[in-house]
Amino acid sequence: MKSRLSIVLFCILLPLNAAAQDYVPTDENLKARREFSDMKFGIFLHWGIYSMFGQGEWYLHNAGLDHKEYAKAAAGFYPALFDAKAWVTAIKDAGAKYITITSRHHDGFSMWNTAQSDYNIVKSTPFRRDILKELADECHRQGIMINFYYSHLDWTREDYPWGRTGHGTHRDSTKADWPKYYRFMNNQLTELLTQYGRIGAIWFDGFWDHDHDSVPFDWQLGPQYELIHRLQPSCLVGNNHHVEIHPGEDIQIFERDVPGENKAGYSEGVSISRLPLETCQTMNGMWGYKITDQNYKTASELIRLLVRTSGKGANLLLNIGPQPSGELPATALSRLREIGDWLRQYGESIYGTMAGDVGAQPWGVTTRKGNDLYVHILDLKENTLLLPITCKVKEAKVLADGRPVRVRRTKAGVLLTLPEVPSGTDYILKLTTK
Ligand code: GLC
Repeated sequence: MKSRLSIVLFCILLPLNAAAQDYVPTDENLKARREFSDMKFGIFLHWGIYSMFGQGEWYLHNAGLDHKEYAKAAAGFYPALFDAKAWVTAIKDAGAKYITITSRHHDGFSMWNTAQSDYNIVKSTPFRRDILKELADECHRQGIMINFYYSHLDWTREDYPWGRTGHGTHRDSTKADWPKYYRFMNNQLTELLTQYGRIGAIWFDGFWDHDHDSVPFDWQLGPQYELIHRLQPSCLVGNNHHVEIHPGEDIQIFERDVPGENKAGYSEGVSISRLPLETCQTMNGMWGYKITDQNYKTASELIRLLVRTSGKGANLLLNIGPQPSGELPATALSRLREIGDWLRQYGESIYGTMAGDVGAQPWGVTTRKGNDLYVHILDLKENTLLLPITCKVKEAKVLADGRPVRVRRTKAGVLLTLPEVPSGTDYILKLTTK
């Protein structure tokens, strides 16, 4: 009797423990990881009722607003110009292979017709259209991947246990009820993974809200990740937690930083894992639409960022904050066009590549695909370049026009003599190696 009971208990507990500790990705998942890595470029969309205030997605917290007053904005949210087809077309033409959109950000407003809360785009706005559905359908139609950002933290719900942000939104902290909130999240995730076709990834954010707790907060990530993988084994799990990866994650995210650089301060001490990597970055300075932030990076700067992330083997997830009207900002559209033009010409040196043989250098980076080594020169004041590599180079040329590059083997590596001093956004050499 005793042994039968322990077998039953073992069987019940096994999935949870296995999920938390010994995650073994399925073949489908491994395939999806490889496909993800090859994509190299995606577009991040931060859109919600916060876009109406034009102050970024943290406005509720930053302005210390009463969440009930803030929620009234939903009744005026009518993005008349939203056109999923136009968005996906512009993003696809830019050469992006996936879109990651905020399904629910920290303000707690859901951009789909969730049955778990009326505080959503269909039930609380006059627009009454399921944005996620329209976008997911259009992505599937046009053959690009759709991923969902999902906030772990919530500044509106009282069952979410207070972390270090959102204290000014007039919620009653004594009403925290983690089991209830956890169930709510898992029910929402179940909707997202069963009603919107294939989802490329769930992109979590907000874990860091509890990084100052005196007793470590248990987010119960293991069973939640297991739920996602059970519903869609190929769905990749990523978490923008700013710490080492947890078991059950399929991609590693670096906020505002090329992996290993930590210039933005979010990746301090975080080691680079062997999972597919992704850097997310803004086109201007803010994620959600901010009316005063017209400080857009130039197309050249954005392309160089894409090149530098590729040099690390990472993807770039580049953000746009759509306007409350439902349009993508004109400057963002213009940047998309310029990036698209560049990728149509030089995409072979980006898509499907891995980090090249030579790590990041003051002059630039390298990427590799099969026998081809691409040398991306971003800053060089002379026409010679010594590559510290030992492989044999069969042929070397300038990618733009095929002009030959002279190759000489030296003790220190391969010395390249270029037809000119490199200039422009990214002067690419293509080396065919043995
Ligand atoms: C940060 C911000 C959040 C944004 C995210 C994107 O975590 O809190 O607003 O969505 O970065 O990387």
